[in-house]
Amino acid sequence: MTKRVAILLSGGGSNMVALAQSMTGDHPARPVLVMANSAGAGGLDKARALGIDTDFVDHRPYKGDRSAFEQALHDRLVQAQPDILCLAGFMRVLTEGFVRRWHGRMLNIHPSLLPKYRGLHTHARALAADDAQHGCTVHEVTPELDEGPILGQATVPVLAGDTPDTLAARVLIMEHRLYPAVLRRFAAGDRTPVHLP
Ligand code: GAR
Repeated sequence: MTKRVAILLSGGGSNMVALAQSMTGDHPARPVLVMANSAGAGGLDKARALGIDTDFVDHRPYKGDRSAFEQALHDRLVQAQPDILCLAGFMRVLTEGFVRRWHGRMLNIHPSLLPKYRGLHTHARALAADDAQHGCTVHEVTPELDEGPILGQATVPVLAGDTPDTLAARVLIMEHRLYPAVLRRFAAGDRTPVHLP
């Protein structure tokens, strides 16, 4: 049976576009909803242009009550009956309660070769450490931030003269290849890690 995928984002949504555009033909999944934590997230317009239902729950009125924010998010999500949730640049830290409700069904993409550089500023940190290789990871979401079983990684060489921005741009190109490749496998019930390039 075709799997239903909801995508959560906070920003421009380029990974969402890559995922949505991959779910055609014999792909085992289809996008059913794109949600953001603010009305202004650029990814919402892109999703609408792709003909995908969109919605948002603004996190700001819930300041100090993350559980209430997540309950509102959860209530909207369940209406779309997703089998899989993809975090695609969703920049809110999720509580253990929310993560447990979607256990085994929630994926995230992170711009580093985990377990290196959990959290923010991953490109600057890879450069500061003089790493020869950087990249991105898709993993199952578990309660600890940027942990969880790794479902795929793509490596990117660090070049002389790289800045956080130039490195981020090359990593993003690989994110757009990695996330769809992992989702296709995952939706077919295969958790064998994907390695790119
Ligand atoms: C991507 O680089 C993604 O890996 C990162 O945010 C960007 C979103 O770009 N996610 C995180 O840092 C999560 N911790 P996009 O909105 O163009 O897909």
